[in-house]
Order: sequence, then C-alpha cells, then structure tokens
Amino acid sequence: MSFFTLEGIDGSGKSTVSSIIQKELKKRNANFIAVREPGSTGIGEKIRELLLDPDAFISPIEEVYLYATSRAVFVRRIVLPALNSGKVVISERYVDSSFAYQGYGKGVPLRSIYEINKQAISGVSPNLTVLLDIDPSTALKRLEGKKKDRLELEGLDFYERVRDGYLKLAELFRYRYMVVDGTKEPGEIASIVLDKLERFIQ
Ligand code: TYD
Repeated sequence: MSFFTLEGIDGSGKSTVSSIIQKELKKRNANFIAVREPGSTGIGEKIRELLLDPDAFISPIEEVYLYATSRAVFVRRIVLPALNSGKVVISERYVDSSFAYQGYGKGVPLRSIYEINKQAISGVSPNLTVLLDIDPSTALKRLEGKKKDRLELEGLDFYERVRDGYLKLAELFRYRYMVVDGTKEPGEIASIVLDKLERFIQ
C-alpha cells in the first residue's frame, strides 16, 4: 500500500509542493492520484464550504465530527478504491490535521478524536507523512492579502499550538513521519519528498 500525506499549518506550502510532485510523477508516468482533504468528493466539498464559512458557528467537537464525516466518504470512495487498484495516493491533509487543529489547537481530547475517526478511516493509515514545518508568523505572512476563511481567522497563538502539536505527532508517529523545513524552496522540498517516494513508484 502506498498512501502518503502532506501536513502542516495553513501557509506551509503543501499545495505548492504537492503540485511540483504531481508534475514530476506525471513525467515518470507513475500510477498515482493526488487529492486533498476536506474536499475531493461532492459531499466533502459541501462539508468544506460549511466548515470554512466565516459566518458559521461550529464548536470544536462539532468540527471533529464534520471532518470525520467528510473523511469517511473520502476514504471509501477515493482512497481505498485507488489503493486497491495499485495506485499511489498523495493527500494534502488527513486525520493528523484533526489531531493538530481540533486536538492541540482547540483542546478536544486526542482520545475523542481517535475514537470518532476510527470507524471513519476503516484502518487506512498513511505509510509516510511529510510535515512541512514552519514558524506561524512566516506562514501567515504568506497568506496576507488572501481572503481568510473561518479557520484562518484564528490568531497566532492558535497556530503556535497547532505547529507544536504537529511536532508532537511527528515524535509520536516517528516511524511514518518526515519533518521538512517549510522555509526551503518548494522545488527543494519536492525533491526531498520524491527521493523518499522513489521506492513506491514504478
Ligand atoms: P483549506 O483551505 O483546504 O486549507 P489548506 O489549503 O491549508 O489545506 O482548508 C482546510 C482547513 O481545514 C485548514 O485550515 C485546516 C483545517 N482542518 C482542520 O482543522 N481539521 C481537519 O481535520 C482538516 C482535514 C482540516
């Protein structure tokens, strides 16, 4: 099974890095799909809209359930069928985003997040998770000028907690995590990740 996830705070460069990786993999005719969470399915996109609406009031535990619902659809309709047909799956974000944002960032117990997601992901865990680690003030500067969604309206201290949470997850799940300095050039980051992906791609 070849399931890879990219994680990091908003503005850490996941989308840019993912698109460079995708271009490279296309050049090599690799059998892969690239997806992102929340989203990538019709239901997921609708849940995403709801979650990111700056006018919506959604409590942290309600967020956990909404992300888990979107994830349940995402795993069953996209990730599992692709993995079962031998494809490599690269996803921007997965369960670790819930641990980092709702858990470390907003104080929802990690145990609850784990329990709620257990059924949703039906045992599908990434083989490799790349964390783009970056200082929140640098990351948020990158987002300046862009219209902020509900989650991005959180302050710097929230993003500090999320970043520290990610680093704790990287320790906890050391066997599958690779931490990369998110201030490096996106091309350089992509080649570090591609090196690591090499043995899974034919
Ligand atoms: P999106 O605009 O897709 O952000 P990005 O491009 O940075 O991935 O919005 C996803 C937002 O949802 C982002 O702020 C992180 C947040 N999120 C959670 O809080 N919990 C989760 O489980 C997931 C998947 C995302």
